[in-house]
Amino acid sequence: MTIAELGGQPDAVREQAAALLVHGFDEHPRGWPDLESATEELAQVIRRGFALAALEDTRLLGWIGGLPEYEGRVWELHPLVVRREHRLRGVGRALVAAFEDEARRRGALTFTLGTDDDGAQTSLAAVDLYEDVPRHIAELRDLGGRHPFLFYRRLGYVVTGCLPDANGPGLPDIYMSKSAGREDRRQRPMG
Ligand SMILES: CC(C)(COP(=O)(O)OP(=O)(O)OC[C@H]1O[C@@H](n2cnc3c(N)ncnc32)[C@H](O)[C@@H]1OP(=O)(O)O)[C@@H](O)C(=O)NCCC(=O)NCCS
Repeated sequence: MTIAELGGQPDAVREQAAALLVHGFDEHPRGWPDLESATEELAQVIRRGFALAALEDTRLLGWIGGLPEYEGRVWELHPLVVRREHRLRGVGRALVAAFEDEARRRGALTFTLGTDDDGAQTSLAAVDLYEDVPRHIAELRDLGGRHPFLFYRRLGYVVTGCLPDANGPGLPDIYMSKSAGREDRRQRPMG
């Protein structure tokens, strides 16, 4: 497997990337309903940030995007998808590592992402988060469906917040971040 810039790949590979977005998120309401919207998403990610492909020859196993926020101090991991039959073999981990290297190279202090709980897969669903946000986050657990927050947690991402009802009543988005480790985070400017 090699990891390469998706933007520089032939049309046939970029078409696989758009199709993978449609199929990889077909159970998610905030996914991409058709090739047209997925192609536009890929183009936007390449335009605004970068996209990296995991390839076996010309077969795309998965891809990841990076988008700048806060004048490039923060880079959002968006999107990430691995072909179903290639999951749980380290492709996702390799793509996240490549995203982090590229975002760090571009000046990231923080890597961040949102992972939707749109299927009541976690303990953050169907509860009143406003009642005690930090406690609900501290007690976050998976309800058995192996929500992707578990994947990101294995890679060192920490839950730094949530957005109540982002996916409908009782269905939050879960925000996770990780330090790019460039500077001592305790040294903050005063005032
Ligand atoms: C989430 C996703 C990208 C993971 O990719 P992957 O290639 O299967 O992940 P890896 O094989 O690199 O897994 C790395 C580690 O995380 C673990 N892991 C992967 N997916 C997991 C899950 N859903 N729940 C718990 N652990 C998981 C693996 O077991 C592995 O553990 P290890 O440290 O013991 O080796 C993939 O499942 C996917 O494309 N899902 C659909 C799209 C999606 O949900 N994207 C994320 C949206 S925010």
